[in-house]
Amino acid sequence: MTGRFIAVEGADGTGKSTQARLLADRLGALFTREPGGTPLGERIRDLVLDPMGEGPVDRAEALLMAAARAQHVDLVVAPALAAGRDVVSDRFVASSIAYQGLGRGLGAGPVAQVNEFATGGLAPDLVVLIEVDTPVAGGRLGDDRGGELDRIEQAGDDLQAVVSAAYRDMAAADPDRWVVVAGGGTIEEVAARVADAVEARLTPGRDR
Ligand code: TYD
Repeated sequence: MTGRFIAVEGADGTGKSTQARLLADRLGALFTREPGGTPLGERIRDLVLDPMGEGPVDRAEALLMAAARAQHVDLVVAPALAAGRDVVSDRFVASSIAYQGLGRGLGAGPVAQVNEFATGGLAPDLVVLIEVDTPVAGGRLGDDRGGELDRIEQAGDDLQAVVSAAYRDMAAADPDRWVVVAGGGTIEEVAARVADAVEARLTPGRDR
């Protein structure tokens, strides 16, 4: 029996990373994140999110995210799933569709194609979308770095609004795979909603 693969998605500042960790703890799953999750992936993350210097052009940004993802899939996610371990990833392919495809305007189709190549077709069993009103999300931006914004966060509220809309559209188009959770309230309140949603959608121990 393979493990279950859950991706947690959302615009910046939705509290998604905290919720992904709490969900992984609750399920006894492996917690991992993108971009990152491997030593090389974390180096790519530093390069791509560094607010200083040249910065990648949009297509390079998409390819760097995909390169980190290929490394993450082959070295971390796929082996854990094959060993029967559940995996919770803070972001996966949908982040690239939302940010690079729609946010940067590269197009959902081309970005999906690049990511099909990067992942070898591995897709999450469930995607949990944490949704908050854009102003609330904006207020939380940079909290985890003492108020300092990374290069993508610095692109501002317009990008975040496009990203939020892209996520809503993806969730609406694939309701069997996606579940939308309201991100308002305390950490504990949101965590309880996430746990309920995941339990309703994934039968523990189900053979796939
Ligand atoms: P995240 O770890 O959620 O940010 P934080 O450290 O603030 O919690 O994600 C880092 C940034 O990378 C975020 O702005 C979204 C962006 N990103 C993409 O643009 N494309 C991708 O494919 C991924 C995985 C992340």
